[in-house]
Order: sequence, then structure tokens, then C-alpha cells
Amino acid sequence: MSISFTVNGVAQQVADARGDDRLIDFLHDDLNLTGTKFCCGIGVCRACTVAVAKPPNQAGSPVISCSTPLSLLDGSVITTIEGVSSGPVLLPVQEAFLRHFAFQCGYCTPGFVMAAQLFLNGLADGPTPPDLDQAIVVAIGDHICRCSGYVRYVEAVRETALAVIATKGDAQ
Ligand code: FES
Ligand code: FES
Repeated sequence: MSISFTVNGVAQQVADARGDDRLIDFLHDDLNLTGTKFCCGIGVCRACTVAVAKPPNQAGSPVISCSTPLSLLDGSVITTIEGVSSGPVLLPVQEAFLRHFAFQCGYCTPGFVMAAQLFLNGLADGPTPPDLDQAIVVAIGDHICRCSGYVRYVEAVRETALAVIATKGDAQ
């Protein structure tokens, strides 16, 4: 028996015996995808966030890869920071992080990007939350940035979210 999933569109298969291995170690050691950052290692800082979609949840949710064993991922579609943009073209929220000087060392940034993009995807495909600022806090507020970029991160996500809402035609 084995555990099967995809990472950034590429099929992966690991033996059941590796079920206790952490997702972040698999990403780093097996796939050399080191953009997902390891920080606290105990599920607190969210630097290691990736997106995981698993039927019937096709939209995907943020998952803390330092605390997620491979055994829970059978059938999952996993996206890491390496898989969110196409070549040199960045996501709008990544461009916004740059414009707002949201990060300094950047160690927390991949986690913020993943969480923010999942939030923005939900915004594009679903209803506009009545309190956008509160919804942004829920989406990224638990991420720890030791360089204290919080306000700028929030401003960048808000700017991107407003652009998404304007595109939908139901601007607040
Ligand atoms: S490294 Fe995973 S939550 Fe901190
Ligand atoms: S930019 Fe350094 S930890 Fe966030």
C-alpha cells in the first residue's frame, strides 16, 4: 500500500511506512522544494503553510506542513509557494507585498502568500464578507512575522482583495 498525492501538479507516491513523515520534510528532502519555510516546528507560526485540496473540498485550505503527516494526505492536491505563480509572473498579492514593503527578511512570506491567496480565491469564487478587514485578520492574523510586517501585510491583502471584489462587480 502507498500514499498518493500531487505536489504542484506532479504525482507523488510514498510507501505507507513513511506515513509519519512530516509533509515539510518530504517537500524539502524528497522534492527539494525549500520555499516552504520551517520555523517553530510546532504548529504555531504558520511559516510552513501550504495549500491542500482534498475531495470534496476542491478549493483548498491552508495546512501547516510541519505538523501534517503524509498519512493524512492520500488523494490530496498540494500546492506550495513554488507552484502558485507561473514563471516570472507573480500573483497580484505577491506584487502587492512588494509594493507595500510588507516583508523584511522574508522568512514568513511564503506562508503569508499561501494563506492570502487561498483567502483571495475564496473571495473571487464566493460571497464578499460583510467585514472585509475582519475576514483578512481571520485569514492571515495567526501568521507570525518576527520582523513585524503585520500592518503592511494586511494593507497589501486588503488592496488585492478590493481589486478582486471590484472585478466581481459587488464592491463594498
Ligand atoms: S514551522 Fe510550521 S507552524 Fe511554525
Ligand atoms: S519578514 Fe522577517 S519574519 Fe516576517
